[in-house]
Amino acid sequence: MKRYLLFFTLWICVVCTVYGEVPVSISIIPRPEQVEVQEGYFTFRHGRPVSIYCDATVSKDLLEVLYEKFKYSGIVFQPVSEKNKAVLSFVLEPATSGESSEAYSLQVGKKDIEVRASGYGGLFYGMQTLLQLFPASFRKPALSQNDWQIPCVYIKDAPRFSWRGLMLDVSRHFFTKEEVMKYIDELSEYKMNVFHWHLTDDQGWRLEISSFPRLTEVGAWRAKRVGDWWTRERQQSGEAATYGGFYTKEDVREVIAYAQKRNVTVMPEIDVPGHSVATLVSYPGLACFKAPDAVNVGNKFYGEDENSLCVGNDSTFIFMEQVLSEVAELFPSPYIHIGGDECFKGFWSRCPKCQARMKSEGLSNVQELQSYFIKRMEKILQSKGKHLVGWDEIIEGGLAPDATVMSWRGMSGGIHAAKEGHHVIMTPNEHCYLDLYQGEPTREPNTYSMCRLSDSYAFEPVPEGIDSSYILGGQGNLWAESVPTFRHAEYMTWPRGWALSEVLWSQKGKDWDDFVRRVSVHFTRADSADINYSRSVYNAIVTPFTGSDGQVWIELGKEIEDLDIYYTFDGTNPDAHSSVYSAPITIPLNATRLRVITYQSGKPVGQLLSIETEELRNRAKNTKRVVGNL
Ligand code: ACM
Ligand code: ZN
Repeated sequence: MKRYLLFFTLWICVVCTVYGEVPVSISIIPRPEQVEVQEGYFTFRHGRPVSIYCDATVSKDLLEVLYEKFKYSGIVFQPVSEKNKAVLSFVLEPATSGESSEAYSLQVGKKDIEVRASGYGGLFYGMQTLLQLFPASFRKPALSQNDWQIPCVYIKDAPRFSWRGLMLDVSRHFFTKEEVMKYIDELSEYKMNVFHWHLTDDQGWRLEISSFPRLTEVGAWRAKRVGDWWTRERQQSGEAATYGGFYTKEDVREVIAYAQKRNVTVMPEIDVPGHSVATLVSYPGLACFKAPDAVNVGNKFYGEDENSLCVGNDSTFIFMEQVLSEVAELFPSPYIHIGGDECFKGFWSRCPKCQARMKSEGLSNVQELQSYFIKRMEKILQSKGKHLVGWDEIIEGGLAPDATVMSWRGMSGGIHAAKEGHHVIMTPNEHCYLDLYQGEPTREPNTYSMCRLSDSYAFEPVPEGIDSSYILGGQGNLWAESVPTFRHAEYMTWPRGWALSEVLWSQKGKDWDDFVRRVSVHFTRADSADINYSRSVYNAIVTPFTGSDGQVWIELGKEIEDLDIYYTFDGTNPDAHSSVYSAPITIPLNATRLRVITYQSGKPVGQLLSIETEELRNRAKNTKRVVGNL
């Protein structure tokens, strides 16, 4: 009898257990405008169908995404055609004046849940917020036998900027159509709405263009290389170009349809007139003198090999007219990005055709020749009903009349353009370049410069004194020279992309400590969804400098306030019993290595940093600082 009682008690416990951590606090990224936590919970019971109503005009797309998101949850939905019969409803309502169609309200009550918005974007984002109320584990395939509880809450939310983007460079390394769609899905979960697809560059042309088949037959392929970018061996004579790939028009349509269901606009970039090795290899007649004979593999070439289209050659404009026609027809995006960055103009200065063009058009320098080219690109795009976007170099020599400027060399290009009355998308590298280091370089895959999570979070897209109506928003850019795999693309994107999503979506008023708390929750969510990310924000920041006493000193900093830092110079691995860092330290005589670790609430959270003292001394050469009273 006792055994039966015990079994019965255990059975009751299992039945009553609601799976997952009962949410103690709400951890939504990007931070919503208004959150009112209410008493109680809504419970999704395992096996009990949830009646769902969605406005008929949007239901097909929205429910397709919703079912996909809930596929491991064990929750079964039953569509109903009347709202008053639904437990979960998505309701379209007329817009109030000035309200964004991406704004939404979400009411989770004890008995029902309702999302309201005036547009598809708003309903989609209401759904994303609802998903973030679930415990992280609800996306894990194996855990679908449970009930799920979410807190009762009222949320009202709206975006600060209309342009909230991420750029992925698929030229330097190729990412498959499926990987691109996963990237779009991931960014849409954080209410980003533009996917900027960097489709062409010196290392590969990735888009089928029917009129110019060699762009993908030849230009999409390079010799396979690993190793650091710019130190690689050129393609050897007789070596096969086997690395690469491209997207057919059918692939692109599939990606666009997938993105549309996630409220994401896909903006293509055809990077001209520079960054064009792959184009010139495919169609050598577009070079000023001699096209390179192989697509670049990551070897040095700038200024040596031609990589700019000849602007003196009429064939260049015939080529671009045809390419942009096909691009404009394929992509519904109102914006087409034509690049315009880092164009090497040295060959133009010597090319008889470019010189003749400058003379006939009354252009006094090669900057004006570039501007002439961009203006003609704008005319082509305007004839297709599209707006031109270009990197901030398109300012040099004079901006095209309707151009939108993407400011990447800091904010100054954007400020200049906004003052001239142009729209601007802010992507200053110091905040938005996701290809940069995000932590101590000796623990990161090789890249250059630094953009920490706190740097991304500190981004403010509207400069002082600039009319905010010219600033469409901003975006993160993932250049892929040092990003050979999709897993690494995720590592570089998250969590800095989350910081940018909050900068671009949430109203002003940042709280770094609270953001970092929410990031730690989202790490767990990403684990459940098998999304890679970087925990570098937990690592110590090692800053050697030469003190005013001539000695090398080392400052150990942190991005997160409540971390404790422990270190050793004696060859052992540090833990919470080692020296605790409190102020700059010097290197003991004969020490060969500094080791550092961080703890939070008594637990190690950062990676073990291990840096040779020689390296510390080298770094200190570039930084001088006063120490103490010296
Ligand atoms: C760029 O980073 N060249 C836009
Ligand atoms: Zn030329």
